[in-house]
Amino acid sequence: MRVLMVCLGNICRSPIAEGILRQKAAEQGIDVATDSAGTAAYHVGEAPDRRMIMTAGKNGIDISDLSARQFVKADYQNFDLIYAMDQSNYDNMIRLAATESDRQKVRLILNESNPGSNAEVPDPYYGGDQGFQHVIDLLDVAVDKVIERIKTNG
Ligand code: 4NP
Repeated sequence: MRVLMVCLGNICRSPIAEGILRQKAAEQGIDVATDSAGTAAYHVGEAPDRRMIMTAGKNGIDISDLSARQFVKADYQNFDLIYAMDQSNYDNMIRLAATESDRQKVRLILNESNPGSNAEVPDPYYGGDQGFQHVIDLLDVAVDKVIERIKTNG
């Protein structure tokens, strides 16, 4: 299974979503390829936001090796599940999709933990430090459900 996490800048939400999934999968011996991307190109090549690296570290998760890239159309072929952090990311990826099978790969990640809610992972970029921990708390629960889905569907 190949899972891509997507947000706007690929420096706050999607890198930590990738880091949480990568760590849980390794701990549980689950075979999953993980990556993340941003719909925008502002931060391509940059490491995750230092505030997210620091908050992740306090939670025992190391994302300091990750580097931002932009979402590309080839990602529809290269991944089985593509998780949007918010509605805007979701809409952008649905717009770029060429086929129904591409569109079906795209999901809002918090619908895993809160089915049908269409809830969003709030963008912490312009807020205070507590926003980063809130993102981690939301994604920790959602990623457990992603892992359950992978275990069920292979
Ligand atoms: P992310 O957060 O989408 O969670 O990586 C953001 C990072 C940068 C910007 C916006 C959101 N920005 O406008 O530069």
